[in-house]
Amino acid sequence: MPLKGTDTRWGGMAKALHWLMAIAIIGNGVLGWIMHEMAPSMDKLNTYAIHKSIGLTVLALLLVRISWKLLDKRPADEPMPRWQRIAAHATHGVLYLLMLLIPLSGWFYNSVRGYPLQWFKWFNLPALAGKNEGLVELAHLAHESLVWVLVGVLAAHVGGALMHHFRERDNTLLRMIPMARLRQSSNGDTK
Ligand code: HEM
Ligand code: HEM
Repeated sequence: MPLKGTDTRWGGMAKALHWLMAIAIIGNGVLGWIMHEMAPSMDKLNTYAIHKSIGLTVLALLLVRISWKLLDKRPADEPMPRWQRIAAHATHGVLYLLMLLIPLSGWFYNSVRGYPLQWFKWFNLPALAGKNEGLVELAHLAHESLVWVLVGVLAAHVGGALMHHFRERDNTLLRMIPMARLRQSSNGDTK
């Protein structure tokens, strides 16, 4: 599987980053809600530490993904009405913004709470702001609300991908899936 994309399909690197980050983000969201419900214990503290480390990893992968995007070729959109093209691109833009703001708001919340921050018990990271009880509630609300916005935008994103696959029967979903065989398009092109 070539690392770089072509006119008709995503490259291996873009696919790997898309699915790795999708799993990490959705998994970390589920972990966030589970840890929130846990009774105070050592296990809860360890789960918080894992949640924060996964979130920081998402942030680092986002930097790699954006840098790669600047060098990579994006496949042309499958044929679709103009409004759908605009909606899809706007959704992708909002998803990029959320992949940045959710980890940053978590990091900010952690900082104003005065909690320590480590990456998988390997090294420490600095606080984004000083301890500030007055900002704790706002920062928590921001982190949680951004996750709810993500849930809504993801529903549209996944719904759109499934609609293209099952109703339009085009290659939008298949060309993002590693090793998938593309369907014959209207111009006979399956490259
Ligand atoms: C992919 C990135 C992330 C996702 C999807 C995510 C999602 C969530 C969710 C769903 C919760 C539970 C909601 C709640 O407590 O009300 C939560 C809580 C929390 N998150 Fe994140 N988070 C991410 C990244 C981060 C990062 C990078 C940090 C810190 C460096 C962080 C720190 C926290 C903390 C401290 C809480 C606990 C809030 C509390 O109960 O007091 N998160 N997160
Ligand atoms: C947290 C989860 C996810 C995030 C943050 C996310 C984000 C993105 C972004 C930003 C793009 C645009 C890539 C670019 O233009 O550089 C994209 C493309 C795509 N995503 Fe996701 N995605 C997620 C989950 C999913 C899931 C679960 C599916 C499948 C059901 C999916 C299917 C697709 C497809 C098919 C494309 C390619 C669209 C096209 O060719 O125009 N995504 N995703």
